[in-house]
Amino acid sequence: MANPFLEPENLVHPMTRFHDAKTQSPRHHVSWDANDVPRSSVFDDTFYTRSDGQAETAYVFIDGNGLPARWTGAAHFSIAELGFGTGLNFLETWRNWIAVRSPSQRLVFTSFEAYPISADDMARALKPWTNLEPLGEVLMSHWHEPPGQPVSWQMDEQTELHIITGKAENSVTGWDGLADAWYLDGFSPARNPDMWSPDLMQQVHDHTCTGGSFATYTAAGQVRRNLEAAGFTVTRRKGFAGKREMLLGRK
Ligand SMILES: C[S@@+](CC[C@H](N)C(=O)[O-])C[C@H]1O[C@@H](n2cnc3c(N)ncnc32)[C@H](O)[C@@H]1O
Repeated sequence: MANPFLEPENLVHPMTRFHDAKTQSPRHHVSWDANDVPRSSVFDDTFYTRSDGQAETAYVFIDGNGLPARWTGAAHFSIAELGFGTGLNFLETWRNWIAVRSPSQRLVFTSFEAYPISADDMARALKPWTNLEPLGEVLMSHWHEPPGQPVSWQMDEQTELHIITGKAENSVTGWDGLADAWYLDGFSPARNPDMWSPDLMQQVHDHTCTGGSFATYTAAGQVRRNLEAAGFTVTRRKGFAGKREMLLGRK
């Protein structure tokens, strides 16, 4: 499955990726499309859709996983994500969670990220969404430097954020959690096949509660087959904006 030519280590571009002197974490070089949409120079793909990233998150990942309805009555709910990126999925999820939760409920959001972006890039990427600004400020108060090792932050009294650094194909396997819902948000399978490999999709399945779900914006046939082979019941539905289809599934 691996596409060695797209392995970040093998892309030779002096500005593409470097190690931060303080954290030793690999950093992500971000460029900006005409309408200020962030694009990865490593994977040559945008972090979210050009039309409206926040609406895409709401449709694909939140609604695609049956949220917020599945939060009703849940004492504890765990979301896991492949690819933290700009934090947009987390912030939009947190915003929705705050709107509906009851006092005793707890949300744990765990995101696997190999190439964290800089604080400046994160701030610029999140700028278009004024209703996320207060929550974005809380995130930015933790994200002074891209984390170089796994971090756990209490975002408010009912919400935890865990960022597990390193390549997901190595780190999901050692995770001791189980997700009620997965957001599969690696860059496009053609540009980043490692994030959609049979092994990683199996790890995702093995780290999902019975009855748990996943959602992803892609409908690529190979991804669907990998998720089915892992044990998910996979459904296709209309994709966001111009995209024909997306995938969701249940264990
Ligand atoms: C499309 S972006 C995620 C967007 C993000 N969910 C958001 O809300 O902005 C894909 C992310 O996957 C990360 N990534 C790519 N390959 C990875 C790997 N093998 N393991 C972990 N993270 C990876 C990239 O660094 C990037 O941040």
